[in-house]
Amino acid sequence: MVAEPRLAPGPRPHPLLGHIRAFRNDPFGFLSEAIRDYGDIVGLRLGLRPAVFLRHPDHIQVLLKAHRDNYVKQTLFRVVFGDGVATVNGAAWRRQRRLLAPWFQPRRVSGAIPLLHDVLKDLVRRWRPLADSAQPVELHLEMKRLALLFVARTLLGADLCSAATAVRNAADVLQRGMAERLFRIVRLPLWVPTPDNRAFLGAVKALDQLAYGLIAERRAARGESDDLLGALLEEEGTPASDRAIRDQILTLLLAAYENTGNALTWLCYVLARHPEVADRVHDELLATCGTALPSREALPGLRYTRMVVDETLRLYPTGWIVRVSRAEDIIGGYQVPASAVVFVSPYLTHRHPEFWPDPERFDPARFADGAPALHAFSYLPFGEGPRQCLGGDHAIVESLLTVAAVVSHYRLSLVPGQRIEPEPLFSVAPRHGLKVILQSRGRH
Ligand code: HEM
Repeated sequence: MVAEPRLAPGPRPHPLLGHIRAFRNDPFGFLSEAIRDYGDIVGLRLGLRPAVFLRHPDHIQVLLKAHRDNYVKQTLFRVVFGDGVATVNGAAWRRQRRLLAPWFQPRRVSGAIPLLHDVLKDLVRRWRPLADSAQPVELHLEMKRLALLFVARTLLGADLCSAATAVRNAADVLQRGMAERLFRIVRLPLWVPTPDNRAFLGAVKALDQLAYGLIAERRAARGESDDLLGALLEEEGTPASDRAIRDQILTLLLAAYENTGNALTWLCYVLARHPEVADRVHDELLATCGTALPSREALPGLRYTRMVVDETLRLYPTGWIVRVSRAEDIIGGYQVPASAVVFVSPYLTHRHPEFWPDPERFDPARFADGAPALHAFSYLPFGEGPRQCLGGDHAIVESLLTVAAVVSHYRLSLVPGQRIEPEPLFSVAPRHGLKVILQSRGRH
């Protein structure tokens, strides 16, 4: 007789909360212990809802490829994202992805390089007095600002320099508020005027005003515009509703801001921790493009810099991959109930010792030409399959150019005594920020 598949094993749940409390207090610590005790598939409960955590690349392949039609995204936080591309499913998602995809193709990404250069030249200028006075710089704030300016300039044709701090504050309130609400068993509706709810709705309003302001400005200008916002306004000749465009603007702004801002921060952390790596990047830059920022043609020549970016995205991938099962399924021999939350942490898969020997060691050589081939699902900083990150190519080019701008002008050293630990909110950020001292490399 063939045995019925069982639910994956896991730690004993609290009768009402399931594993919410342990997960919320320390997601990576909790999941790492669960992997140690139960293996690569862990059965959990988030409140009363079944959840399955997957770490093994073979199992992730089933989720994102072989059985992908059985797994959908959950509509969360409609008040923030509305029906934007990252949260909708089915025909609506296909239509949106088709509309957006051309703006993320390599040709468009390369076309945006001069805009990225402008933003980075401004950063290098702004940092000069900070380097001269050797005062600590909060790099996490700087990198989130940079990520915001990048996405606004390249995709929305907007200069957010003066609004950057307000937008960043609103986005931070939303990120914390969403993480908090996700793990609350009893959620008061947002209209109940608690201080948290008021702050959350205030942040939504601030971003709404920004998005609707951009839309109104562009409609008033009436000219032809060759950017994504222009395409959204005139979707296939039909004027789209302001609400639909606002949903897309907020989705892209927040997806890019959180993930790119955090990824750039981790990159700077790596450069500060490994000065010999920064020096090698510096040498490569000098040999490839002299003292200029890399052009589109120069980027493929930055092989070592690219290895550093790839290895940083291995050690500090910022995203999570989360789906909900439509029907019951089997993954890795275990039953996945219908309506279960099935989730993957690239951060933990990228530390799977079977696929990444000595996983905690920072070693760009893992990505050198001729290094052993990877299991396609063992490295997923941008996800895999049809719902993988739309902005992956943007993020890589932004990372290469940011490293180039920073390293060719400055040496970074960590302010001593600070604790650097990852905080896995929606996007994995350094919990206490990242403070560095900038030292000029002596050529301006
Ligand atoms: C280093 C930076 C970034 C990282 C690590 C990252 C990572 C991710 C991950 C892990 C996903 C989820 C994939 C899944 O659920 O299967 C995702 C989705 C997405 N990302 Fe990114 N991302 C980054 C930058 C960006 C940028 C710059 C943009 C846009 C300008 C962007 C737009 C999106 C969108 C729209 C989705 C949803 C795609 C869909 O559901 O069809 N991301 N990203």
